[in-house]
Amino acid sequence: MLIKKPGDIKPSEITDRALYLDRRRFIRGAGLAVAGIAGLGLLAGCEGSDAQSASSVPPTPGPRPIPDRRPGPYSTDEPETAWEDATSYNNFYEFGTGKDDPSVFAGLMKTEPWSVVIDGECERPGKYTLEDLLAPHAMEDRIYRLRCVEAWSMVIPWVGFSLGDLLKRFQPTSAARYVAFATLNDPEQMPGVRRRILDWPYREGLRIDEAMHPLATLAVGMYGETLPNQNGAPLRLVVPWKYGFKSIKSIVRISFVRERPPTAWNSLQPDEYGFFANVNPAVDHPRWSQKRERRIGEWGRRETLPFNGYAGEVADLYRGMDLRKNF
Ligand code: MTE
Repeated sequence: MLIKKPGDIKPSEITDRALYLDRRRFIRGAGLAVAGIAGLGLLAGCEGSDAQSASSVPPTPGPRPIPDRRPGPYSTDEPETAWEDATSYNNFYEFGTGKDDPSVFAGLMKTEPWSVVIDGECERPGKYTLEDLLAPHAMEDRIYRLRCVEAWSMVIPWVGFSLGDLLKRFQPTSAARYVAFATLNDPEQMPGVRRRILDWPYREGLRIDEAMHPLATLAVGMYGETLPNQNGAPLRLVVPWKYGFKSIKSIVRISFVRERPPTAWNSLQPDEYGFFANVNPAVDHPRWSQKRERRIGEWGRRETLPFNGYAGEVADLYRGMDLRKNF
């Protein structure tokens, strides 16, 4: 994969997005898949990508502009990752384990209409349409670092709002100590879930105080537009101080629960993927170092920062905890 710094790309080189996505589908459909990339699924050491032909994937409706956005809190002024990289180098195992599988196959997922079940320890459980969920929330531009457990990182301009603002509307009871999230699980729309790589649906969870921190974000867009399917349309979590696998995509259920909920990667390999998964250069993954990271679009590697550079905002949440044990 040839990666250029955003500043090195001339406007004349920027491919029209629809053309770009069509070209990716064509390449896969013609059997010229990037075979070397498939199978490098570092998270689980998974083998090959899915065999489904891309020619059967309908064109994804293009992202739509999100108007009336205001600046959100904690944004970085670091250079943003190129849109082309952020939308083509993805982890979304429901569509395959290759980095380019989601951009090719996620068009199979129908994101309209969409609804989310809110249940568990709260006063206002129910099944809510996406429109009802989002209606009261002003949309913010939140430019955050994303650090994957695989030791690569990006800077993404998300569009969204604080998760806590949404959670409060459903009036969690005092018994709600954790919040659990689940992704859509439909083999018709998601070829990857036909293989039991993970115990589907993909699930994640946060302690309630983590979920209420204003940095924890529900994103509906990126780069000023609605989320592309491969990035978790229409609604995903973004928890920038944790490894990227906590940032669950395409959410269909949010549950207030008493006990720490089972989560996808932690259940599969608890010694490799902790429940907390706070970015921590002092605790290596058993199979690779976490001290440095490759920022997509840059040459060389940079230091990984505790809590992905958000220690000032969130370290207090973990005061008194042994972060080597609770990794
Ligand atoms: N959510 C679901 N449902 N399925 C996934 O496979 N992968 C996670 C996370 N959310 C994943 C997911 C991982 S490992 C990462 S690093 C981020 O999504 C990647 O987000 P991105 O593809 O938008 O960069």
